[in-house]
Amino acid sequence: MQLDSLSWFPGHMTKPRRMITAELGNVDAVCEILDARIPMSSRNPDVDELTAGKPRLIVLNRVDQADPEMTKKWAAYFRSLGCAVIETDAKQGGGVKQFSSAVRTLLHDKIASYEAKGQIGRVLRVMVLGIPNVGKSTFINKVSGRKTAKAEDRPGVTRGKQWVPVDKTLELLDTPGILWPKFEDPNVGVRLGFTGAIRDDVMDMEDLASRLMAYLGAHYPDALTERYKIAVEPGEPGWELLEKAGRKRGFLMSGGEVNTERMARILLDEYRAGKLGRFTLELPEENA
Ligand code: G4P
Repeated sequence: MQLDSLSWFPGHMTKPRRMITAELGNVDAVCEILDARIPMSSRNPDVDELTAGKPRLIVLNRVDQADPEMTKKWAAYFRSLGCAVIETDAKQGGGVKQFSSAVRTLLHDKIASYEAKGQIGRVLRVMVLGIPNVGKSTFINKVSGRKTAKAEDRPGVTRGKQWVPVDKTLELLDTPGILWPKFEDPNVGVRLGFTGAIRDDVMDMEDLASRLMAYLGAHYPDALTERYKIAVEPGEPGWELLEKAGRKRGFLMSGGEVNTERMARILLDEYRAGKLGRFTLELPEENA
């Protein structure tokens, strides 16, 4: 599987598209959950168009795995687009308490107009959207105290929409079906591969790890030096860094060649487990 040909991925968008369109009139706002490490690549490309005109709350989730400075930049970027933003670590529950006040601030004018019509304490409804693996279920469970096991979310497995109460005046609409990321963009596929959102068995691991090395070498060279005890030269190719790290770790094959495949797996495992540090893998400037 070549990384630049991810068009094999099933793009069954019809069902979520229909659901979003059908339910949009029943909600006051849309909450889009993103992976703070790859906020652009973890977006669904159709959400903007499908939900145009609805107040938007962006949840930058997985902040525990992202570069805190970059998370601030991303939050500022989305605010500059007119969105409300909160930063969360849904796994530990960090930041999720801000959700309901963020929604109320976002919908301040709407609440005032409901109240003007005598609808005091009217329930606010928020549609929650996110591509697989951003932490949507974990987030909804933490915000609402919902205990149910994760709903089946695989292709071919149907489930209905769910209204999930957060408190007396706030409800979430958990959306069925899968919202795909923008797979047709090869950079997006690669970044989703870095985070493990695309299964490893469909990726070329050495290619993927080389690209990750190149990115980390360019943006976080000290982290590579610290973890793998290698010097990182400016502009050094990723495969060279992979080889250097493999050699340092002693991953040699007969003949003295470095086992870069083994090093590739180790790098990706260690990156995903947070052993190298907290990194953001794309920058708002790239999208400006
Ligand atoms: P989804 O509905 O968007 O598909 O994602 P889900 O909530 O199932 O979360 C996917 C995985 O990501 C889960 O890990 C979950 O614990 C983890 N996760 C969700 N939010 C965060 C976060 O903010 N920070 C971190 N570090 N992890 C997060 P898992 O491997 O399926 O299970 P487990 O590791 O929790 O046992």
